Amino acid sequence: MTDQATFRVWRGDSTGGRFESYQVEVHEGEVVLDLVHRLQATQAPDLAVRWNCKAGKCGSCSAEINGRPRLLCMTRMSALPPDEPITITPLRAFPVIRDLVTDVSFNYAKAREVPGFIPPPDLKPGEYRMQQEDVDRSQEFRKCIECFLCQDTCHVVRDHEENKAAFAGPRFLMRVAELDMHPLDAATEAGLDRKATAQEQHGLGYCNITKCCTEVCPEQIKITDNALIPLKERVVDRKYDPLVWLGNRIGLRRKD
Ligand code: SF4
Ligand code: SF4
Ligand code: FES
Repeated sequence: MTDQATFRVWRGDSTGGRFESYQVEVHEGEVVLDLVHRLQATQAPDLAVRWNCKAGKCGSCSAEINGRPRLLCMTRMSALPPDEPITITPLRAFPVIRDLVTDVSFNYAKAREVPGFIPPPDLKPGEYRMQQEDVDRSQEFRKCIECFLCQDTCHVVRDHEENKAAFAGPRFLMRVAELDMHPLDAATEAGLDRKATAQEQHGLGYCNITKCCTEVCPEQIKITDNALIPLKERVVDRKYDPLVWLGNRIGLRRKD
């Protein structure tokens, strides 16, 4: 006998919506995205869902399963409670376009607000040298697949649209942290203080290190422990550095 699952899927658009219930066949080893595809093939051909790789690498199938932000293609049916309806909803922090598809352009706007790597002026490409431990440290952050599950789950913006203008979210604070700890980044020489911008422009102070972002990251990046907390510590160190304090008082900026 083939197993059946009950799916409660949010259907609607920016004007409103409702839950629709479906009975869908389940086969051994399947993930939630397999059942969503079966649903489209058999009962709901107009159901909108975004996906691409079905391998946890493109970051496009983000949605909420039983209220938790997850990748549809990496959530095994066997990991969900059997004999209970499975609720699938669009990401809550972003505007709905249709059904399970949301407008994630907030994240692209925030990405553009973080100035990129500034190459050292005295070195040419090919002359850059880094310690392996510095490479390893940023390698972790480079695993990000930009699924924006961390952005969706962060309570600073999840139910607080009003905070979005001032807060970049964990994914982009992590980007600031990565650049700030990059040994070759020449931001300071170029007059850019990444620690100050983290606090003043990207909203680092809103983060109260709850670690919810880390818990939902499908790449198991330790966003809070390895990026946000060290960045907060460097911001505090800089603020209470007596030389920085004196420099600010007399209108100088220390090159640190
Ligand atoms: S640790 Fe900070 S960025 Fe991450 S979810 Fe909590 S408040 Fe948001
Ligand atoms: S840090 Fe993790 S949860 Fe956030 S966008 Fe990147 S991969 Fe997704
Ligand atoms: S379809 Fe690419 S991450 Fe799920």
